[in-house]
This record gives sequence, structure tokens and C-alpha cells, in this order.
Amino acid sequence: MTKEALQELLEDMSLEEKIGQMNQVAGSFFLGASVATGPMAEKGFTQENIDRAGSAIGVSGAAAVKKVQKAYMEKHPHRIPLLFMLDVINGYKTVFPIPLGQGAAFEPELSMRCARMAAREAAVSGLHVTFSPMADLVRDARWGRVMESTGEDPYLNSLYATAMVRGYQGNDLRDRGSIAACIKHFAGYGAPDAGRDYNTVELSEHTLRQFYLPAYEAGVQAGAALVMTAFNTVEGIPATGNRRLMRQILRDEMGFDGVLISDWAAIEEMLCHGYCADRTQAARRAVAAGVDMDMMAGVYAEQLAALVQGGEVPETLIDEAVMRILTLKNALGLFEAPFKDADEEKEKEIILCEEHRALAREAARKSFVLLKNEGVLPLAPDTKTAYIGPYVDSRNLMGAWSLTGETKDVATLREAVLEQRADTDAVFCCGCPMTDRDMKLEGFLECMDEMVSAEEQQRMMDEAVEAAKACGRVVMLLGEDRRQSGEAASSAGIQIPGIQQELLDRVCAVCDQVAVVLFSGRPLDIRRIAEKAQAVLLAWMPGTEGARALVDVLSGRYAPSGKLPMSFPYCAGQVPVHYNEYPTGRPHVPGKDKDRFRSKYLDIPNAPLYPFGFGLTYTSFRVSPVRLDRDHMAKDDVLTASVTVRNTGPAEGTETIQLYIHDVAASVVRPIKELKGFCKVTLQPGEQKDICFPITERELRFLTENGRWESEPGAFEVFIGTSSLADMPARFVYG
Ligand code: BGC
Repeated sequence: MTKEALQELLEDMSLEEKIGQMNQVAGSFFLGASVATGPMAEKGFTQENIDRAGSAIGVSGAAAVKKVQKAYMEKHPHRIPLLFMLDVINGYKTVFPIPLGQGAAFEPELSMRCARMAAREAAVSGLHVTFSPMADLVRDARWGRVMESTGEDPYLNSLYATAMVRGYQGNDLRDRGSIAACIKHFAGYGAPDAGRDYNTVELSEHTLRQFYLPAYEAGVQAGAALVMTAFNTVEGIPATGNRRLMRQILRDEMGFDGVLISDWAAIEEMLCHGYCADRTQAARRAVAAGVDMDMMAGVYAEQLAALVQGGEVPETLIDEAVMRILTLKNALGLFEAPFKDADEEKEKEIILCEEHRALAREAARKSFVLLKNEGVLPLAPDTKTAYIGPYVDSRNLMGAWSLTGETKDVATLREAVLEQRADTDAVFCCGCPMTDRDMKLEGFLECMDEMVSAEEQQRMMDEAVEAAKACGRVVMLLGEDRRQSGEAASSAGIQIPGIQQELLDRVCAVCDQVAVVLFSGRPLDIRRIAEKAQAVLLAWMPGTEGARALVDVLSGRYAPSGKLPMSFPYCAGQVPVHYNEYPTGRPHVPGKDKDRFRSKYLDIPNAPLYPFGFGLTYTSFRVSPVRLDRDHMAKDDVLTASVTVRNTGPAEGTETIQLYIHDVAASVVRPIKELKGFCKVTLQPGEQKDICFPITERELRFLTENGRWESEPGAFEVFIGTSSLADMPARFVYG
């Protein structure tokens, strides 16, 4: 449709029809849930609201979507199609590693391919929009949703947000296999106080703009069709009713002209926040802030018509929102093809096809981070292995946000080992249940595993210890339950369940060749694991092909190459901890722990256990001192920083060489280091290569005291290395 035709359509719509477009309701409402009682009535939805809604959340599958769309359009006066939306986070049916794991690959282009394939599967299943990517910056491992982020660095997150948006959307939303992306959660949702989900966010405007906004903005610049509001407050005002945030920063400054959707019931939650006295005020404030679509609160459906009729909300605000929604439907081609790509035959052909599974396996392999290795990995072929731990037979490898992934499509570690390896004399045992007997996953009780009796627990553990004794080597498959991370899964303790630690302790007491494979949705305090085990391989929640990918890496067919996108804290008391911290007036000098009046802890080190950017592989690398091609740089110059990287170990390996810059003195204090570039290089034993990074004035910009992104003259330090621990900087003077 042309813009003019859309405008004509808008003008022809009644007020009720227009407001209808601004509501998103659960797909189940279209599939027979009753209106008079039950969830719809509680939410304030009437059958009329359902018949006029602009979008459905949570229905997928070509047949279901077509059925709903057809029935809906037949009743609609203007035959305007519904938008079908769902959280397709790390894949649809073929599930990729969780986003935090994808961040560890330091390969945004790979995530673009994953997003593309997720979009293809989602599109043939009838979906038009995914609520992804989550561009929230995260620094606090207690917050369960860190698993849905790509980590603690604004630059890395920006690259990923861009890549994922491009992957989902392709060149044109009308194309086959394209779905619209939604950047979330605008803004600052990743910084809840004390790591508790939905909690208050307290960020200075400088911190918000300098660190938190860039990744959202990158997603917007990449053309994301939607943005979602955040549950939290920003400067004391809930994001969903925050005019300055939405109108000034998102729309005017960032130039976003797509659809702004609230998070689930977030408009109504402004009452609980104490920002709105009633639903009427909530509707008024959200629409004034420019929220186009109300996800599942029913506030717009209930309130807006009267507000417009009473002159309290100008109809132009409604028209503006509806035009954006119609424009999105048009961009997706829904007026001409309301089912878009939904196709039962294609579902059979595309979903979980070999190509998608192969990509899921590649992405999983690249997401693994080797944190420690004293020669146990890769597993030498001549020793018998005992695979022990609750993840031996688990199919729950997809992470908490895998709403459509099915465990039946996931191979277990035991299956993958037997499928791929010659040494079928390997022994397998669970050793203990996944979680402690007294662990309550609040809100998840209905789906808790069956409780194992104390005797059975003892028997399992004894059996595992015997297996460990009988084999020369143990691979332990341990970690958090998938329900321990994700939304509403904050945790004050960030260790593996006690029962698993006990199992590890007992196994390590009888075997000195123990490799731990750690499954997790967040950085954990793994001091005791790292102390006891000879190797630790972090597997995150690796997805459908995760187990096969693990066998690829354990066996040495592929070497691990992942790098931490988020620091692994020393302990929970250290969080939030991130590499790009500010210097203080009393910096701690490592080694001078007795120096009292310094910024440090009495009982733990300042440094995380494993820092951002860290990750080993099966060989070693030496990086030369940094070389700069000049020591002065003018505004238009391109300075080249380079190093020589040499593979000094016994095997081929891939290293991620990272460039960090530090502005020595500036009008606003600058982080001790900031990632400004990276480059993955694969070298044979003995091979070396020069790696060059161009540095321009752009890399030196920051939010100055003038509130502008600009550079300031002065000295800069350049670090290049294999993690954020890179030291021995080279210096240059700019300006
Ligand atoms: C989450 C969003 C999600 C939405 C819809 C909310 O609870 O915060 O990230 O997209 O639900 O499922």
C-alpha cells in the first residue's frame, strides 16, 4: 500500500477501530478462551477488544496462525490483518546458545546468521515480529536475565544488536524469511538495584547515555522496526510513561520512527510503581509518552476512547500511533499477504533442517569458554572416561527463553558421546539430582523435578565415585538448572547447587584428572570448582546441538575459542563488577594489600575470578608489545596500532585479539580501559601474524562535560592483548 492509501485507511477507521490497533492480546484469546470470566475479563478485555486488537502474542505454527488470522479478518470492518509476535530469542525450534553464549563467540556475524535462521523458522510458522534482541547492558550476575544479554560491554553489545536486527529483518521485511526485530528493554532494564528483577534502576544520566544507551541506539540505527519499553523507572519515572525518555531520547535524538510497544502489562504497572493513581492516568501517561501498543494490560482498550471523547487525549496522538502500526503491517506486506510466510509444508522442510542444526552446532562450539586447563583437555584417546553429573542425561540445554524449542529435539551428552566417539567403553552416571532437595525455585514449583530420596541421592553419589575411581579421568557435567536464570530468576547466591558441589568434591578426592563442563545462564562464583578441577569448560546453555558441539570440543576435533562477554566474579559480594570501571582517587596497587586507605576489599581481591575477554584454547599465543605508527595523532589522522601474534603451542588455535583504549585525563573521568576493536585469528603451531587496528578520532569520542560525543586532546593509552587484562600500553598524544 502507498503512504496515501494508508492515510486514507486511517481516516476511514472509527475511533474504536483505531484504538483496537493499539492493543496486543494473548493468542489464546483468539483460540477460544472465554471472555465473560477468566483472564480476559480480569484484564479488562471484552470480546469486542479481541475482535479489534492489533496484535496477538504467543500463537505460532502456520496452521494456528492462519486460522486466527482468517477468522479475525473476516470480522474486521477494514480487513486489517493482525500482527503475530513472540519471543524468539535464541532460536525458534532450532535453538542456538543463549545470547550471553553468543556474545562469548565474539562473532556478531555468526549471530546474524543465527538470527536469520531463527527468522526463517519463525516466519514459516506464521510469526511477524520477535521480541529480540535484548540490548540491555549487564553488570550484575545476580540478575537472571543476563543470559539474554550479550554482556557488559557497550561496544560489543552494539555490534551484536546491529547484527541480530539485520539477521531477523534481512534487506526487506516483505522478503521471505524476514521478521521484524524489537529492541528491548528501553531503557536501563539491565541495571536493577541489587540484581533483583523488576527493581528500581538508578543511573546517572551520564552513565545511562555513555554505557547503556549505545546498544539500543545501534539496534535502532540498524533499522529495528520496534522498540519495547522497560519495566523499570528511569530518573524516577517508569520508562513506559517517561516522555523525555521516549519522545526526546528515543524518537528525537535516536530518530526511531517505528512501533513502541510496552512490556507485558507495563502500562498497568505504573499504578504499582506509584506513578499513576488509576488506569485512566496510566493510559494518558503512556500515550503521551508515545507508547503505540499496550502489551496485555488492557488499559488502552478500556480507557483511551473515553479519554479522547472527553478531550483529555488528542486524537492526533492516537492517529500517530495507529499510523506507525499500520506502517509496520504494510512494511511486512500483510495487507497483500496476511499469512506472509506461514506455510505448513515449509515448516516441515525448514524447521530443524540439517543446515540449521549445523549452524546451531557451530554457534555452540564457538560459544564455549575454556577457563582453566591443566592438560586434561582435549581428552586423550587412550584413557577411559567417566561422564558424571546431572547434565549427562539432560535435554534442558536451551535456556530459559526457549519458548518454542522442544527437549525431544535435543541430544543428551550421553547420546552425543555414544554417537560420535569410538571409546564406547565410557561410563555415564548422573551422580546427583540437578538441584538441592530443599531448593525452591519460586514460581516454578509446578514444574520441579521429582524429589529424590536421601538414600537414592547417596546411592547415586556412591556409584559416581566408584565410576570415577575405575576410570582414569572424569568429565563432570554440572551447573545451574535452566530455570535458575532468565526472567524473574534473580539469585543472591551465584554458585552451583550444593549437592553438585558435594559430588564434585567427592569425585576430585578420588581422581586427579577432572574436567568440569559448566552449564549456566550467568557468571557464577566458581572458586571451589576452579580450585578442585583440572579443567573448566564453560558451556552456557548451548542449545539444540549443544551436546554434540561439546563432544566436538572435548574430543579435540574443534578447539574452544570463546571469550567471556561478562566478568566471572570472585564471589557474589563483588558484583556488580565489570572491566571498564573508572579509576578511583585511591587506586588499589596489586600486591600492596596491606596498604590500608585504598579502594579495595579486606577479604577478597578487586579483580574478578575471570575477567571480560578471557578464554583459553588448546594452544598458547604470545602477543608482542604494542607498536604505534606515530606518537602524535591529529583529528583526521588514522593511527595504526599493531602487534605480532604467535602460536607458541602444540596445536592450531584461534585467538581473539582485543584492542582497548584509555583516555588518560579528560573532562569526565574515563574507564581504565574500553574495548574498541577485536579480531579473530587462526594460526598453526609456530605461525605468526601481524594484527593491525586503525584508530581514528571516532574511537576517542565520549560524552564530554558538554554533553556531546566528542574527543578531547591529550594522552591516550593503547592496550592490545588476549583479554581485558592486556597490559603494557603504548601511548600517543592526540590533538
Ligand atoms: C519480558 C519481555 C518479553 C515479554 C513478552 C516480558 O515479561 O520482560 O522481554 O518480550 O514478556 O513475552
